[in-house]
Amino acid sequence: MSLRDLYAVPDIDPCWTVPQNFDTTFNWEYDDGRKPMMHLYQKGKDMQWNALSRVNWDEELDPENPMELPDEMGALYYTPIWAKMNDKEKINARRHLQAWNISQFLQGEQAALICASKTVQQVPYLDAKFYAATQVMDEARHIEAYQKLLNKFGVAYPMTPPLQTLVDQALRDSRWDMTYLAMQVVIEGLALAAFANIRDTAKNSLAQQVNAFVMEDESRHVAFGRITLKDYYPHLTQAERDEREDFLIEACYHMRDRFDAREAYQALGLPVEECAAAAQECGYMKMYRTALFQRIVPIVRDIGLWSEKVQNAYADMGVLDFAKMDYRTLMAGDQKRAEELDEINRRKRQEYVEGVAALGASGVSEAQ
Ligand SMILES: [Fe+2]
Ligand SMILES: [Fe+2]
Repeated sequence: MSLRDLYAVPDIDPCWTVPQNFDTTFNWEYDDGRKPMMHLYQKGKDMQWNALSRVNWDEELDPENPMELPDEMGALYYTPIWAKMNDKEKINARRHLQAWNISQFLQGEQAALICASKTVQQVPYLDAKFYAATQVMDEARHIEAYQKLLNKFGVAYPMTPPLQTLVDQALRDSRWDMTYLAMQVVIEGLALAAFANIRDTAKNSLAQQVNAFVMEDESRHVAFGRITLKDYYPHLTQAERDEREDFLIEACYHMRDRFDAREAYQALGLPVEECAAAAQECGYMKMYRTALFQRIVPIVRDIGLWSEKVQNAYADMGVLDFAKMDYRTLMAGDQKRAEELDEINRRKRQEYVEGVAALGASGVSEAQ
């Protein structure tokens, strides 16, 4: 099924074209590559998976609350807007708002696919080209998985303009490290935290699986940005690093303050400004917007964009403490959760096979 017919926003352009002006770099040295990068590349190859067979697509979404998320997690839950809705309207609002969220994941995955392929062309190091090539495949698989999940909602949304602005910057900039900074650090860092939120709070098995399996790859992608930029940034001048820091601070505020479900409020016929203001004020959403920076801040510290200016901005956002987190621990946790869900799927399949075999056996004995 095509998503084209499911968009709740009318007259969407079928394509988005971003003009590009950058140098494609070949590397003739063919050296052995940096150890951590080659290790990550081996991991990237070993951990490929198939979105069609690893996810148990026999599971369904809940018709009344697709991902089975607590209503308290919704930005509108404590508002008169929510209180006034009847049950049918609430069911429809859950479906649209959750689909808006998954749509941003899907559209972000396509942006990641394009950025990773740009990295393959542009980055001057062969080991980084190798790793980025595995990421290209990962991102295609993520699109496949989220598209399949979103189809089950029966409604979809285009990329929201604030995300589009940042992706546009990531692609237009002719310096390869700026694509990394915007995509591998900011967008993927935020995405990891947003995926984790669904993985850990949704009761629906399909939502848990898709997010957990995608996260296993994404935490490698964030590590890829970390390794590359950590080596590269010390070689820049202070003025060049200052420019990266200014971009980073602006991008973080932009995503924290602008990323809201306006398109869904509009499609639901709700007062858009009132809903957007409620989402800014909502206690749960404030906590959520803070938690979104859990994965970005430790990476920013590690890549050395850690001047007083950056630390002050993160202190102002209430996220500076995340700098103490260790990305390796988080990455190990992501892998463990994905493996647990693999085990649940394996057991379900085994029970199914045993059930069929038992049925067959009883059929044979009755026939005899
Ligand atoms: Fe991805
Ligand atoms: Fe990614």
